[in-house]
This record gives sequence, structure tokens and C-alpha cells, in this order.
Amino acid sequence: MNFDESQTKTNLARAFAGECQAGARYQFIGQKAIKEGKKNIQMLMKDLAKNEMAHARVFWDLISSHGGTPDTNIEIKAGYPFQDGNIMDMIKTSANNEKSENTSIYPTFSKIAEDEGFKDIAEKFKLVALVENDHFMILDSLYNKLKSKAIYKSAVPLEWKCGHCGHTDTGKQAYNNCPLCDLSNDYIDLSFVNSAKK
Ligand SMILES: [Fe+2]
Ligand SMILES: [Fe+2]
Repeated sequence: MNFDESQTKTNLARAFAGECQAGARYQFIGQKAIKEGKKNIQMLMKDLAKNEMAHARVFWDLISSHGGTPDTNIEIKAGYPFQDGNIMDMIKTSANNEKSENTSIYPTFSKIAEDEGFKDIAEKFKLVALVENDHFMILDSLYNKLKSKAIYKSAVPLEWKCGHCGHTDTGKQAYNNCPLCDLSNDYIDLSFVNSAKK
């Protein structure tokens, strides 16, 4: 099939636009977090935003490498939810977005690419969907912990690592202030929200 006439080209453009918007939303959440002194949430959002921009680049490059005619306007029809609110609300809706990307949107785009004979693109949609699943788990776990106000407690011992000085404690509850650099638990590296979920 001619790439310029394929549905896959349009889907890549949609995916590119969606990833850019996700990247922007995560930066906005990060800006809210920093205003509230939650440095660790800002750092997490910065990492997620970086991932989304990398995904956008993958989709952009696929359009180019498959001979998409440059300097054309690719028409796309898509909903772009406007989501604002407090940090928790935005994390919750972001988790839902990640879930629909990895369980519905990208698997569908992958199948269409496969059917249209673009196996390499089908594979990229699958690989990005796997990352979006990780994002879902991170955001869903973080939301649940924030909601239960138990973000720094765990049923099993966890490693609590200060994102500022690198000091690590292991236990069922994190420190309020880092024993080494004295910064608050708002600096604790949040990578545990993912491992705790699994
Ligand atoms: Fe993404
Ligand atoms: Fe994502």
C-alpha cells in the first residue's frame, strides 16, 4: 500500500499529536508540583514528559522514513481532553489516558499497520504501548498512595532514597526528613511507586 494514502500515516500523525499533548500535560503537572514543594512529583513528571517527547519523535521519524510527503498538512480527527485541576485529579486522568493508549489506541493502530503491510510500524506501536502500560502503573499507584495519604508507608519494607543526596533507608515507613541532608520526604525518589505496584 502507498504510505501517503494509508490509514497508518494518519494514525502516526494522531499518535505524534497525542504524545506531544501528554508531554505538555506532564510538564504542567510538574509545574504545579514544584509550586507545592513536591520536588519528587516534579522529577517524576519530568521523566514521563521526556518519555512522551521521545515517543513523539519516534512517530514523527516513522512518517519521514516511510516517505511521507514533506510540507503537507495531515488532517486528523481526535479528541484532546482538557484536563485541569489539582495534582491528584490530573494524575488520575493521566493514568486513565495511559490505560486507553496501551489497551486500546495503540493496539488498534498496530493491527491496522500490520494489515496495511507496515510491520515495522506495527512493532513500534506495540513497543510504545508497553511503555504506556508502565506509565499507567506508575501513575495509578501514585494516585492510590496519594489518595490514601500513605505515600511513604508500605506493607513490606521498601528502599526510601533521597532524590537530593542519595541517602537510602529501608523500612515500612519513610523518614520525614532525610537523616543525611535534612530535606523533607518531598524529595524521596518516587521510583518505588512502580515496584510497589508489581
Ligand atoms: Fe507516550
Ligand atoms: Fe505515557
